[in-house]
Amino acid sequence: TTYRIASIPGDGIGVDVVAQAREVLDRAGSLHGFDFAWTDFDWSCERFLKTGAMMPADGLDQLRDHDAVFLGAIGFPGVPDHVSLWGLLIPIRRAFRQYVNLRPVRLLPGVVSPLAGRSADELEIVIVRENSEGEYSQIGGRHNSGQPDEFAVQQAVFTRVGVSRVIRYAFELARTRGGQLCSATKSNGIIHSMPFWDEVFASIAAEYPDVRSEQSHVDALAARMVLRPDTLDVIVGSNLFGDILSDISAAIVGGLGTAPAANLNPERDFPSMFEPVHGSAPDIAGKGIANPVAQILTGAMMLDHLGETAAAEAVSAAVDAVLASGVRTPDLGGNATTTSVGNAISEALK
Ligand code: NAI
Ligand code: MG
Repeated sequence: TTYRIASIPGDGIGVDVVAQAREVLDRAGSLHGFDFAWTDFDWSCERFLKTGAMMPADGLDQLRDHDAVFLGAIGFPGVPDHVSLWGLLIPIRRAFRQYVNLRPVRLLPGVVSPLAGRSADELEIVIVRENSEGEYSQIGGRHNSGQPDEFAVQQAVFTRVGVSRVIRYAFELARTRGGQLCSATKSNGIIHSMPFWDEVFASIAAEYPDVRSEQSHVDALAARMVLRPDTLDVIVGSNLFGDILSDISAAIVGGLGTAPAANLNPERDFPSMFEPVHGSAPDIAGKGIANPVAQILTGAMMLDHLGETAAAEAVSAAVDAVLASGVRTPDLGGNATTTSVGNAISEALK
């Protein structure tokens, strides 16, 4: 089999970590009997500064007939973040109905984490983030610019279809895992959308008596994730809450450098997109020290999605072996480079 993959390295460290991940994926393919046909796209902030657009007008059409999109990170100083995000990532997520943003974390071997020394070495949390609506909305506006009575209005949109499908996905996932699901809410302060979210959650929960479900205010949940992460398994949250919780969950297992993610179109009528939780990290861009593990594990999620589960497990095992051996980038307390970690993972593949 040959998989057709659209490759968008993007900005900053995205370029370095995507290069490493592609090498690992190509080698996994050669060991497991498939290969990749990569199509390269230079869509980025650099392109925006040259042409005035993050991607061409027919960009979505160019991606459409690929088996998946593999993306590094988008955004760099010089282009406002809302311009880069809404010029590329959000249009792809929405046009291709990638309404699930799946963000699993687990404690990796040898990684120093605030949890070290606790009974959490088996810790795994999966965030299911709503990825198509909610607080990420263009409805609203700025008014009375520069005046003392200046104000901004930002509307959030929650539809029954949108809320139901992501919650249902989370229940199905919880059923295949520990049988436990927590919904992030804030229905004390957000009085229209969050009570609606809670009602939809409760009605779907009734269909899954085998899943232990609960709802928690997102602020309390954030604290619990730091203090007692072992009490959590699958968490479902809105676009904003899921985003914030996934950075916290990444932080408690060693940082953004190891946290993978997938933007999934569960119906498979459009390509899904695979990009790590982290961004373009301008503070370390060009230094050759970005951790490629998050992008490589994101590649493993792509393999899983393509049905190459043995190869996905092999990539994940190779990551574990290399981290356990002490080859780590500075964010994990080591002194290895992006390239040396990537090479070590390629070599460790079975
Ligand atoms: P960031 O995730 O790029 O960086 C946050 C911190 O984590 C930095 O100190 C960075 O050095 C560190 N870090 C992140 N990934 C790392 C890795 N692989 N190895 C080692 N250290 C790593 O988030 P930030 O600084 O808020 O955003 C930077 C740019 O990235 C912005 O333009 C933002 O809009 C964009 N961004 C893009 C995302 C995407 O494309 N999906 C997601 C998040 C941010
Ligand atoms: Mg984020």
